[in-house]
Amino acid sequence: MHITILGIESSCDDTSASVIRDGVMLSNVIAGQAVHEAYGGVVPELASRAHQQNIIPVVAEAIKQAGIDKSELTAVAFTRGPGLMGSLLVGTSFAKGLALSLDIPMIDVNHLQAHVLAHFIKESPDDTTHPSFPFLCLLVSGGNSQIIKVKSYNEMEVIGQTIDDAAGEAFDKCAKVMGLGYPGGPVVNRLANEGDPTAFTFSKPQVAGYDYSFSGLKTSFLYTLRDRLKEDPDFIEKNQKDLCASLQATVVDILMHKLRKAAKDLGIKEVAVAGGVSANSGLRDAFQDHARRYGWKVYIPKFAFTTDNAAMVAITGYYKYLDKDFCPIDAVPFSRVVI
Ligand code: KG4
Repeated sequence: MHITILGIESSCDDTSASVIRDGVMLSNVIAGQAVHEAYGGVVPELASRAHQQNIIPVVAEAIKQAGIDKSELTAVAFTRGPGLMGSLLVGTSFAKGLALSLDIPMIDVNHLQAHVLAHFIKESPDDTTHPSFPFLCLLVSGGNSQIIKVKSYNEMEVIGQTIDDAAGEAFDKCAKVMGLGYPGGPVVNRLANEGDPTAFTFSKPQVAGYDYSFSGLKTSFLYTLRDRLKEDPDFIEKNQKDLCASLQATVVDILMHKLRKAAKDLGIKEVAVAGGVSANSGLRDAFQDHARRYGWKVYIPKFAFTTDNAAMVAITGYYKYLDKDFCPIDAVPFSRVVI
């Protein structure tokens, strides 16, 4: 008998649905929300309204692309949190309605765990390129920067995390002061590719253990701009590429320093990266470089699985289903949590 899981993701501003059968992805449909572009960030109320409009067509399309009938679904997995409450409520309510109508179990999924387990999505039955346990996962997104020790599919320990801003936030906030729009991370990355990473030096944090901090870097970046703009009002335009390259190099340095320390202390050489910031080419290069220098076996997700997607929710649902780890029909979403 097949195990066919429908995954639903609606934690922020992407409505996504995916069907995974026996661990193999059959579909992964994502509807983004352009409505936020004019506001320089995600507007929660607009996000939940757009989810309401998108959820039915997106789920219908995922089922259609998978080439199955909804009666073949074994369970419905949905993102329960963390995320925006109004957005989560749309996916959660939809999952409840569908599970009740089909009389199948519901599986609640932690969004952060799902980012980590994205590494186990199979795109074909013979796809075996996934990490072996235990491995370390650097989870870097707009809201999180964590080092996670992954002991099994369902057992993870956060051994380090940011004490203030996340890495993606550092990219976005610095991009904003340079007038680069939102989300700034991808723009900074593009400009950084043509700049000199040694042109500027920004402060790096002194935080104990495996924890991160990015607020000092943000302030240091801001002060550099403030001081240099006094001398030259065109300073940002003239130095945009070098500023982006130096910012990116500093963020990557900060991230890799603690990850290296954790890998060395714990004697783990299987190292993965996940989350929106894992799309960053500087970070990807640093992973490849560490693989060569330290003998790490590194796992870098495909671009499609770095940002929010329901395939990662469905694969997490699949492994929870194997553990018979279901959730009650009165489950409510949560906006904040660690793994
Ligand atoms: O995981 P994600 O899609 O969702 C949230 O946590 O909201 O991550 C989004 C974050 C944003 O901060 C965005 O600027 C950052 O990932 N990001 C990047 C790149 N692509 C996305 N940061 C740096 N370089 C990139 N290429």
